[in-house]
Amino acid sequence: MAASAQSIQYVEARKTWLLTTHDSSYAMAVGADGALRNLYWGAPLWRADDLPAAAPRRDVSSFDPRQMLENEEFPGWGGPRYYEPALKITREDGGRDLVLRYVSHRMQNNELDISLKDINDPVEVVLHYRVYPENGIIVRSATIRNATAHAFTINSAQSATWNLPPGEGYRLTYLSGRWAAETQINREPIHEGQKVIESRKGHTSHNFNPWFAIDPGDAGEEHGRVWFGALAWSGNWRITVEQTPYRQVRVTGGMNSFDFAYRLQPGETLDTPQFFAGFSADGFGGASRLLHRFVREKILPGGLTSRTRAVLYNSWEATTFNVTQAGQQALAEKAAKLGVELFVMDDGWFGKRNNDRAGLGDWFVNPQKFPQGLKPLIDTVNGLNMDFGLWVEPEMINADSDLYRVHPDWVINFPGRPRSELRNQMILNLARDDVKEYIFGVLDKLASENNIRYFKWDMNRSFTEPGWPEAGAADEQKLWVAYVRNLYDIIDRLRARHPKLEIESCSGGGGRVDLGILQRVDEVWTSDNTEAFDRLRIQEGFSQAYPAKIMSAWVTDVPNQNGRSTPLAYRFLVAMQGALGVGANLNKWTDADSALATKMIALYKRIRPTVQLGDLYRLLSPREGDVTANQYVAADGKQSVVFAFRHSQEYNTAAPAIRLRGLEEKALYKVEAIDNKLMDRQPQLSGAYLMRAGLNLNLRGDFDSTAVILERVQ
Ligand code: GLA
Repeated sequence: MAASAQSIQYVEARKTWLLTTHDSSYAMAVGADGALRNLYWGAPLWRADDLPAAAPRRDVSSFDPRQMLENEEFPGWGGPRYYEPALKITREDGGRDLVLRYVSHRMQNNELDISLKDINDPVEVVLHYRVYPENGIIVRSATIRNATAHAFTINSAQSATWNLPPGEGYRLTYLSGRWAAETQINREPIHEGQKVIESRKGHTSHNFNPWFAIDPGDAGEEHGRVWFGALAWSGNWRITVEQTPYRQVRVTGGMNSFDFAYRLQPGETLDTPQFFAGFSADGFGGASRLLHRFVREKILPGGLTSRTRAVLYNSWEATTFNVTQAGQQALAEKAAKLGVELFVMDDGWFGKRNNDRAGLGDWFVNPQKFPQGLKPLIDTVNGLNMDFGLWVEPEMINADSDLYRVHPDWVINFPGRPRSELRNQMILNLARDDVKEYIFGVLDKLASENNIRYFKWDMNRSFTEPGWPEAGAADEQKLWVAYVRNLYDIIDRLRARHPKLEIESCSGGGGRVDLGILQRVDEVWTSDNTEAFDRLRIQEGFSQAYPAKIMSAWVTDVPNQNGRSTPLAYRFLVAMQGALGVGANLNKWTDADSALATKMIALYKRIRPTVQLGDLYRLLSPREGDVTANQYVAADGKQSVVFAFRHSQEYNTAAPAIRLRGLEEKALYKVEAIDNKLMDRQPQLSGAYLMRAGLNLNLRGDFDSTAVILERVQ
C-alpha cells in the first residue's frame, strides 16, 4: 500500500499518531500518565487503527524503573531517567527536575505540533513534526518556552530523540575527518553506552559531519534497512547514539550541551535546529538517494527551480595572493576558451591582503592591484560570457587591519585572556548586532556596486576563547547560538536583496557543510584537498548525505597533495562527478591540456543534469578493491553515466565487469564510450544485460579512468 493520502493520521481513542511517507512511517502515542512515547519507526504502515495504545510498563527493579523502558519522544531530565535527555534546565531556585506531559496538539496538512508542559510549572515545549510524503523524510524540532514567572537556564536543548525498533546488533555509520581529509566513512557496531559525534568548534567542523545512518548489521549498498538523519545546524552540534541496557537504541541530537547555558527570561523562547530523518529499505544507497532528492527539492534555495551549477574557474591555486587585474584577465580569457561559465577571483583582492597576515576585515578593493576598482575585470569576465564570483571571508579579522585598529572589541574574546590566532586571524563576534549589521552592509555594498553573481564565503578557523563580555556573565554563552542565527540572518537578507546572487559555503574546505547552511547556499567547497585519488573517498563519504549538485569539485595541477600525479583525464573524471570546476594554473597548461579540458567540459555540460539532478548508484567503493565506479541515472531515466577509476593494476588482471543499476530491464540503451576503453562493442545494450552481465572496461596500469554514457533509445 502506498503512503496514505493523509500523511498524518490521529486516533483520538488511543491518542496515537501515525506519520507516513512514501518510504516510512513513524508513530507515537500519549500514555495514561500523559508522557508522549514513540511506538514505531520503519517501513510504511497505512492503518493507524493497528497501533496499540502506549501501554504502561512496570519497574523491573528499583534500579530499572519503567521510565527507562518507555521510549519517550522528548524526555526532560527529571524523575528516574538516566539516558541522554532531550531537555535539561536549571530554575532560578536551583530546581532541575523536569517531567514533560502532553497538553494539546494541532494538525494541519503535513504538520503536527504537540505541546508538552512540566508537571508543576509552565515550562513549555512544543514539538514540531513535518512530514514530506514524497521525499520519505520527517523533520523534528522543538520550541522551548518559559511561561513561568522566573528566568531559567537551559543546559541542554536537543531537537529530537529518535528511537529505533528495540533490539541489538545495530551498526552506526558516520562521517569523520580533518582538514583536507573530510567525510571519511566509519561503520561500527553499536554497543551499550554512548557514542557521540559533535562539534565544539563553533562551526559544523571537518571532524564530524552531522549525519548518521543505522542499520541492523546486515544492510549493504543496495539492500537492507537503514535509518538515517541529518541535523540542520552550523554551530556547536551533537548527536548522541546510545544503547540502553534494555536493548533500546536512541539517537538524540541538537545543540551541543558542552559549554551550553541559555537563559530564558519569562515569555522568551528557544527554537532548536531541525533534525531531518528517514528510513530506506534499499540500503545505504537508497538512504542517500532519498536525502539527495530531498536536499535538492526542499532544502536548497529555489529547490527544483534553481539552475544547475555552472562550470567555474577559481584562481586560488594559480595565483594565491598575487592577484592583479592583468593576471586575472589573462586567466579569464583562458578559462572562457575552455567553456568555463563562472570566473571566481579568490583571496588577495582587498585591503593589504598580500599574504595571510593582513587585510581580513578591510573589504575594499586594493588600489594597487585594481586601480579602477573591480569593474574593468568584471566587464572583461562578463564580456567573455562568464559570470563573476568573488571570495570573501566576512567573519574574520587580522590584527593587522584597519577594522581591528578601530574595533578591537569586535572579536570574540575573554577580557584579559589571550586572543588565540589561527592562520593569523580572529573571529568577529557576529552575535553582536552592530557587528552583524557591519558585515551585512559590507557584503550588500559589494553586491550592489558590482555585477557579482557569486560569493565564495570562506571561514578559515575554529572558535577559541568564546567570550562575549558585553552580554554579561549570565548570558554570554548564548554566543554559540546567537552567532549562528546572525550568520544565517546575514545570508538570508543578502539573498533577499540580491535574488540572483549565489553563495558557496567554504570553511577551509568542508568545515561548514550541513542542512542548515544548505538552506541558504547553492554549493559547498568539499575539501581543500583536490588530489583526485584522495577525492574519490572524500566524495564517497560526502555522497552519503549530500547530493552531487552541491559538491564543488575542481581539477587542479599535479603533483598535488601526497606528492601524487594523476593524469589530467583522471582528474577531470573525478571532478565531473560533482559540480565541476577548474582550479589549475592555466598559464602553465600545454595546448594538449587545454584541448582535453575543452573536450571534458563540453562532455560535462551534456551530462550535467544527469550528474547534478539524477540518482546516484555507488557501484564499486574506493574503500574496496582497486576499481571505483559510480553511476548517475537521470530523473527521467533517459540518460545514465558511469564513471570508473582504476587505482593500480596488478598481475595484468582485467578490471571486473561493472554491473549497472537503476535502468529499465526491457529498455535498450545506446552505449557511448568517451575513449577507447570500453570493450563491449555492441552499439546498443539492454538494461537487463547492463545490470546483470555488466560493462567491461579496459582499465590498465595506474590511475586509469573512463566514462560511459548511456542514452535510452526505446
Ligand atoms: C581557504 C579555502 C581555499 C582558499 C583559501 C584562500 O583555505 O578553502 O579554497 O580560498 O582559503 O585564503
